[in-house]
Amino acid sequence: MKIVMLGAPGAGKGTQAKQIAKKFDIPHISTGDIFRANIKNNTELGKKAKEFMDQGMLVPDSLTLELIMDRFAQPDCENGYVLDGFPRTIPQAEALTKALAEKGENIDFAINVEVPDESIVRRMSGRRACLSCGATYHIKYNAPVKEGICDTCGSELVLREDDKPETVLKRLSVYHDQTQPLIDYYNREGVLREVDGTKDMNDVFQDILAILC
Ligand code: AP5
Repeated sequence: MKIVMLGAPGAGKGTQAKQIAKKFDIPHISTGDIFRANIKNNTELGKKAKEFMDQGMLVPDSLTLELIMDRFAQPDCENGYVLDGFPRTIPQAEALTKALAEKGENIDFAINVEVPDESIVRRMSGRRACLSCGATYHIKYNAPVKEGICDTCGSELVLREDDKPETVLKRLSVYHDQTQPLIDYYNREGVLREVDGTKDMNDVFQDILAILC
């Protein structure tokens, strides 16, 4: 099964994608996590990506496409994947459709997690991220057992650089401009499904399961 998660920054794409990946035993591929791992390891890709990410802008399509096509070629992608944060522009979506069509494949579901902008800014200030293993928490809605420490790997949790309110507003504007058009794109492809992302995260997952199963 090949799934694309759509939605504004902070809508809960990553939270839901991790659960979908576990349930269906497919990889969760987050371009944001891959970029952040590269930044942490100070790679050339990481240095280039950081310039854009810290400003709330998108990393150029050329860099993103190279990275994601390499990832698709890995053996764990054979039975599908859940994509979180990719595609994010129409050219990225078209490149994905073309790469899949060359293998006689297609995206099965594009799930749009809908959350209004007002709730997003509030949510993001409470998010805490583990830059070591990619786990995500929320100080109110999904707190770690020990404050400031990742339940999964024991690393310190941080407020992401791009989760500061002024950068979140920039990311939302980039989202509306460049990523929201993907909702129409996947609607035309006949694979768009919508869920209400303002519900409790477990209820959102149940709504997604009702679509996928
Ligand atoms: P990326 O890491 O993909 O960030 P994003 O899309 O902005 O999404 P987020 O990770 O911020 O949010 P999310 O929807 O996954 O929400 P989450 O589940 O964490 O990208 C970062 C940057 O990398 C981009 O700005 C760009 O520069 C670059 N980039 C990445 N991909 C790219 C691409 N393809 N092309 C170009 N550039 C790219 O949830 C948010 C918070 O809310 C958490 O604290 C969570 O616990 C909480 N929460 C989740 N669900 C609920 C709920 N139902 N109720 C209450 N709280 C909830």
